[in-house]
Order: sequence, then structure tokens, then C-alpha cells
Amino acid sequence: MPLISLIRYSTFAIAVFLAIVLTGLCAAGLIGWGWPLAALLLTALGVYDLVQRRHSVLRNYPIIGHLRFLFEFIRPELRQYFFESDTDSIPFSRQQRAIVYQRAKQQIDARPFGTHFDVYESGYEWLNHSAVPTKQESHDFRVPVGAIAQAGESASSCTQPYSASVFNISAMSFGSLSANAIRALNRGAMLGHFAHDTGEGSISRHHREFGGDLIWEIGSGYFGCRDAEGRFDEERFVANATLEQVRMIEIKLSQGAKPGHGGMLPAAKVTEEIAEARGIAAWSDCISPASHSAFSTPIELLQFIDRLRRLSGGKPVGFKFALGHPWEWFAIAKAMVATGITPDFIVVDGKEGGTGAAPAEFIDRIGTPMRDALVLVHNTLVGLRLRERVRIAAAGKVVTAFDIARAMALGADWCNSARGFMFAVGCIQAQACHTGKCPTGVATQDPQRQKALDPGDKSVRVLNFHRNTLKSLAELVAAAGLSHPSQLEPMHIVQRRSRGEVHSYATVYPRLQPGELLDSEAEPAVYRVFWSMARPDSFRPVT
Ligand SMILES: Cc1cc2nc3c(=O)[nH]c(=O)nc-3n(C[C@H](O)[C@H](O)[C@H](O)COP(=O)(O)O)c2cc1C
Repeated sequence: MPLISLIRYSTFAIAVFLAIVLTGLCAAGLIGWGWPLAALLLTALGVYDLVQRRHSVLRNYPIIGHLRFLFEFIRPELRQYFFESDTDSIPFSRQQRAIVYQRAKQQIDARPFGTHFDVYESGYEWLNHSAVPTKQESHDFRVPVGAIAQAGESASSCTQPYSASVFNISAMSFGSLSANAIRALNRGAMLGHFAHDTGEGSISRHHREFGGDLIWEIGSGYFGCRDAEGRFDEERFVANATLEQVRMIEIKLSQGAKPGHGGMLPAAKVTEEIAEARGIAAWSDCISPASHSAFSTPIELLQFIDRLRRLSGGKPVGFKFALGHPWEWFAIAKAMVATGITPDFIVVDGKEGGTGAAPAEFIDRIGTPMRDALVLVHNTLVGLRLRERVRIAAAGKVVTAFDIARAMALGADWCNSARGFMFAVGCIQAQACHTGKCPTGVATQDPQRQKALDPGDKSVRVLNFHRNTLKSLAELVAAAGLSHPSQLEPMHIVQRRSRGEVHSYATVYPRLQPGELLDSEAEPAVYRVFWSMARPDSFRPVT
């Protein structure tokens, strides 16, 4: 272990040293027993911090780590000065994280006294309740994924549909997350019967250990299914895709936080284990190109989906993207009509999404926010009468039951969360993911730091967070007088425009009618302007 990382144990080392010296002096009768006792108590506290399994921060920062809880207890704001870089650049507020921590730790997440929101502030949103609420027996809301091909259709058929939870773990690679974080997430998914997306880093031994359902993500690096040149390799694909644990396959086109930007895992982080999972050489730079080599047009993308569905033995295959140029999405939609091939699902990732690391401009200024992209994708599929065949998932700052309800009202069939589940395994939003010095062992490959994260303890928090969030969703659905979150519609959500003006989502996000795009030019401007620019055989616009 490099000398530098011993610093975090220095407080403990000093306490041990003082305990020995002061006890010696006391034994020699040179000083009273007060100070030696204090030093011995501190040492005992340090030993306790190192052996306990519940608090990763204390395992990585014995004794001094307690300052974090002290600050949290006395003045939460103070904590940010000492532990978090800059208050106004934190993606998730203290309230949002508190809800996740409470649900993960099975603590009461009810709050006294009333809301902290200014309900007359522009942008405030709420769900309307019903005078006749329903009674919810279960919170285990599910959606079937995988469409059976219509008679005469040439497209491959999904013969192994998957019953997905409406809330799942979003893609985060082994490499951006530690082995113990992956183990905790996957065990939590196994215990709660929900899905765990591998991220583009492919399937590692840590994903396999507990057998939790996997969504295998295939990015432009084709990790886990690539040949020596980094191109797609059918044989290797079949070997992984036919694993029983792999329930769905997701092609990654882009990610909201860094769309159009490839990725690179520096050589120093490409351990033997990561290399094994990805099918690359260890300790050499691991590149994810900005675009795919297996396809380059919308039609070729759908043919690739069809091919993967056949090779996987009929498992649901879909793609994940962050909406960029509208004509490119329209081109994929037109290719669905032209080829008769449809993905089984589409994951819409919002600009507000997270990443292990990306340039500031990409994180702040490229890509479409989730709600706008979700509405466009939903409406387009409805307008082409393809909505029944294609499920939609949404990701982008979904951490509470209201976030799920809102996304499902806008057209999502389920939601994925990445950073929500990172909080559940102990992330404190230190925003040190890109440094390898994560204080809680979540986003690091440092073997010592990740030891602080105990998968046994943290997997139960993953399960609790998932279950308690869905229990809260069931209460929201019941209060609205409904029986399943899929019944939520834009008309159920209201948005404040100004002190005196509120709008139903039904007017904020107008819906297309079924088939409206097939025989006429749809009204919303985005269709009038960009629909005709799209062509199924190229992502380039018709100009
Ligand atoms: C540490 C980290 C690693 C990620 N890795 C991937 C990845 O490999 N593939 C991918 O499609 N998205 C990746 N994402 C994006 C998430 O899957 C997700 O789509 C996005 O963060 C939005 O969800 P959130 O707001 O709940 O975090 C990653 C996000 C984080 C925070």
C-alpha cells in the first residue's frame, strides 16, 4: 500500500503510539492515568472502526471519520466544507440523499412538520390525489419485456421474455465501480428479484457470484464479445449471452452524461480481473470508441439487434441512448417501419445522468434532458403504432418514488437508477470517482479502500432501498386512485409556471395519437421540422 494512503490511518497510528507511550509513563509513575486512558479509548475506537462492517468511511478513515457524522449531526452544511468540494456543484441535494440513506438503512423515512419545498416557486411539481384512493396489496410492480413476432414478420422473435421490475440498477461498469460494489449490487438484485445492468465493462466474476439478474450492456468496445482487433465476435457473444443469468441484452449507443464521447480506462486501472471480464490485455489503456463498428446506419443497427436476438436464443434485445439530433432518433424509428424489426426495449438516458468521469462541457452542455427525450421517444412510437412492441425505460436522477411516478406518467415502462443505488451501497457523493480515492470503496480499484465496503451488509441496503422505494410508489399510486404505476398519465402531474399559473403535464407534454405519424405530418414543431429530414438508411440528415 503506497505511503500516501497510510495518511488516512495516521490518526489511528498516533492514538496507538500515544497509548503505548502514555501507558508507559503512567506505569513509571510519571503521569496520572487520565491521558493514557484517553489514548487507550481512542485506540479502542480505532480498532472498532476497522473491524465493524456498517460504515465504509470509518473503515477507510478510522477515528477521524467520526468527524463526518459529527458535522452531519450538528450542521449538515458544515460537512460540505470539509468533505465535499463545492456546495453548489453537487448533483443530488441533501434531502434527496437522505431519503435514499433512510430507505437503505430501514430507518423511518417519514418526515414531521411538512415539506421543505416552496410550493409556490416556479417549477414545483406534484401528483394529484384522488377522493377515492385504492388499496394496494403489493408493491412488486413488473412489466413484461420482449415482443413475440407477428405472423409473417421476418424479424426474429423474443422467445424468452423477461418480467422486469419497474425499478432496476442502471449501467455502471466493473472498473468504474469496485468489485465489492458490484458484488453488493448484484446480491441486492438477487434478493429483490430486480435487474442489474453490467455497464459496458461486461460481465465479471463479481457479477456471477450471487446470480442476480443481469442486463448485459454492449458498448462500442464490445467488451466480453470482441476479437483481438476489438471488433464484435459472435462466438464470444454467444458464450456470454446464453448464460441463464443474462436476462436481456442492451446495446449502448450513448450515455446522457457524456453523449458522443468515448471512454478510456487508463492502464493503471486495468487490473487482471477487469481485463478478464472485458477480454483485453491487463495494464494497458482500455479504449471505448465514440461510435460502433458493427453498424453505421439505422437499418444496420436494427439488423444487429435482430442478429443478437437470434444468437442469444431469443432474449430481449434493446438499446440505450441519450437523445441528440432529433432526426437521428426519427431515422431509427423510420428504419423500424422500413425493416419491420423493432428493439424489445429502449433506455432513454437523460443529460442529467451520471458518469465515472467526463469533460465538464459534456457533463453540462451536451444531450437532451430525460423528460423531453422520453416524451419524444414515447410519442414517436405511438405515432407509428409501434408502442405496444417496444418497452421504454428512463434514467436520469431517478431516486424517489415520485421520480419514478413522474417518468412513468410521461411514458416510461420502468426506471433505472445508477447513483441512487451508489448511495445505497454507501456513496457519500465525495465526487472522487475519477481519482480512485473513493472514501467509501464504491468507485475505486484500490484493493485496500474497497475492503471498507462489505458486500454482505451493503447488499441488504440495496434490497431495502429498492423495496422501500417501491412501497412508497405503491402508496402514491393508491393515493392517486390507481392500481398500477403504468396507469399514470400526464394528466395526473401538475407543474407550477409562476405564482399564479399551473399547468397539467397533459398540456406541458402533449401526446400524439396512435398512427398520427403514419399518414399525416404531426403537429408538434419537432416533427414538422425534423421528421422529413430523417432517412432510415443513414444517420445523416436529408438537407
Ligand atoms: C459511476 C458510473 C458509471 C457509469 N457507467 C455506465 C456504463 O458503463 N454504461 C452506461 O450506459 N451508462 C453508465 N452510467 C450512466 C448510468 O447508467 C445512468 O444512465 C445515468 O447515470 C443516469 O442515472 P442516475 O441519474 O440514476 O445516475 C454510469 C454512471 C455512473 C454514475
